[in-house]
Amino acid sequence: MPRVMPELETERLRIRPFTRGDLDACHRILDGGDERGMSLEQRREWLEWCVLNTRFLAELYQPPYGERAVTLRDGTLVGVVGVVPFVDSLRGGPGGVASADVALYWFIAAELRGRGLAAEAARAVVRHLFDEERLDQVIATTEPDNLASQAVMRKLGMTVERAPNPHAPRPRVIGTLTRYAFR
Ligand SMILES: CC(C)(COP(=O)(O)OP(=O)(O)OC[C@H]1O[C@@H](n2cnc3c(N)ncnc32)[C@H](O)[C@@H]1OP(=O)(O)O)[C@@H](O)C(=O)NCCC(=O)NCCS
Repeated sequence: MPRVMPELETERLRIRPFTRGDLDACHRILDGGDERGMSLEQRREWLEWCVLNTRFLAELYQPPYGERAVTLRDGTLVGVVGVVPFVDSLRGGPGGVASADVALYWFIAAELRGRGLAAEAARAVVRHLFDEERLDQVIATTEPDNLASQAVMRKLGMTVERAPNPHAPRPRVIGTLTRYAFR
């Protein structure tokens, strides 16, 4: 049996794998009005990567790395929660050895921000990663000026550390949450 993350449900949301039918909604939410956004063709490629990533990682019995669609309970796409590998080769750990972490990413449609949707979606994914995947720890990364993302980290109970040096390699803000600190 391939290993898949089941559809997760919260009070207001569903978190499910992307399908190719999400293209138009994805392009509108992720790229609409953003001059740095992808073209429709680039977004189609990204979506194809999401769909195939879900399928082939599951066949490799790997944890559910990749992007997941966040929808309202009526099916309307409102955002993305990503679970991505994070290897900090630039900093390294003790002895200069880099360790691998599981990092979360979140994005909510601009018109729906500030209603707790990112924290609600991320909380469901974190619960799954701790309870079902038995992870010890998850992290999230961002930059100092992304205060909304740091607020989501804190709402999840993450310890948020900021690089003391503004010229430190990115990411300069890292939130860490252990399974024992998660409620
Ligand atoms: C980061 C993001 C996902 C948050 O989504 P959201 O649904 O608005 O998040 P939530 O409502 O759960 O929480 C947002 C928190 O940020 C706070 N916040 C928002 N803007 C803020 C600002 N400029 N300064 C301080 N806090 C801020 C809100 O008050 C809220 O905290 P509260 O509930 O304690 O009041 C959303 O802003 C987004 O999609 N940004 C673009 C993508 C992005 O930057 N993703 C992170 C990449 S590292």
